[in-house]
Amino acid sequence: MSVICELSDLRRLYHKRVPKMFQGYCESGSWTQQTLAMNDSDFNKILFRQRVARDLAPRTLATQMVGQDVTMPVAMAPVGLLGMQHADGEIKAAQAAEAFGVPFTLSTMSICSIEKVAEATTKPFWFQLYVQKDREFTKKLIERAKAAGCSALVVTLDLQMIGKRHADHRNGMTAPPRLTIPNILDISRRPRWAFGMLGTKNREFGNIQGCATGVDDMNDLMKWTAGSFDPNLDWDDLKFFRELWDGPLIIKGILEAEDAKKCIELGADAIVVSNHGGRQLDGARSSISVLPEIVDAVGNQIEVWMDGGIRSGQDVIRARALGAKGVLVGRPMVYGLGAMGKAGVTRMLEIFHEEAELTMAFMGHRDIASVSKDDIVIKGEL
Ligand code: FNR
Repeated sequence: MSVICELSDLRRLYHKRVPKMFQGYCESGSWTQQTLAMNDSDFNKILFRQRVARDLAPRTLATQMVGQDVTMPVAMAPVGLLGMQHADGEIKAAQAAEAFGVPFTLSTMSICSIEKVAEATTKPFWFQLYVQKDREFTKKLIERAKAAGCSALVVTLDLQMIGKRHADHRNGMTAPPRLTIPNILDISRRPRWAFGMLGTKNREFGNIQGCATGVDDMNDLMKWTAGSFDPNLDWDDLKFFRELWDGPLIIKGILEAEDAKKCIELGADAIVVSNHGGRQLDGARSSISVLPEIVDAVGNQIEVWMDGGIRSGQDVIRARALGAKGVLVGRPMVYGLGAMGKAGVTRMLEIFHEEAELTMAFMGHRDIASVSKDDIVIKGEL
């Protein structure tokens, strides 16, 4: 087996082991994928200041996210269909996150249900909600998350309509995959994935069964989303969810300071500055470039986190220096999971931890709490 030194090693293995249509689902952005590209490339404009001859041991990245102790400020982003990237994917990723001491967020659109993930883990995870027109069903999802002991609710606001993702249509993405000749040929080259899938019963959307019948391909999913996600959702409606959920509430998909301020009024505990990994509004600004103005606008009134384009522990430090108290990672988790299951997610977390800790030390810090804007230089404009 090849040595896994950095995320790109896991990504390469992921591309070998996971069927093409699910790779496409993970890797693609919407429309021209301009926002997806900027999410990554804007990180290259953030350079570090190196300091020498400091007392640099011991060091720690440990901190808190919405009051929860974490070994580093990195949470697993909600990602739909993880159970198609690897058999029982949500369970494997949640177990890896739990053992490492970072939060795992289960998507509404997961394959393994809330209850199955709860059965397979020992510590609380977070649940991500897409608000649906059927308020009774939405309420039931929240009640199920509560009953399963979820410790935070993440409400995603940037997917009331689904962005145009051309790759999924071109690849004929379905869950589970349809047995067409090209799919059979592709899957036959990926026996680990196929045997894993044969060995599990978790092959459909675990949380929306009974609500979404006949949703198995991307076209169905688009139609179902259009019919059931609530395009009329507004800030007043969100009060209902604040009242229903008395634990930490995290609002995801914020790109404007005025919306960040609305989250404070709502009584949310944290926001995620996010463009959904470049999968929704193409042409929107990168998350990292928006972060400073949102941090300036809200100060310490709410925890500000970000996601989109974090590809290393160095990026975690860059985001932290620009004021993010925490970050979420989507695709890096998928690469680890598809490459090596639970062990791959663990390896991804180890790599990020090592890189972040070392970078912090080169900048002259022993504790991530002291990393600030003074540690970076922006090349040009973000
Ligand atoms: C996502 N994302 C997402 N977000 C969410 O709130 N609910 C979901 O079900 C999903 N599903 C999903 C699937 C896939 C394949 C990806 C790549 C992303 C968005 C995700 O939570 C996060 O915002 C981005 O993934 C962050 O960008 P990076 O880390 O992938 O660059």
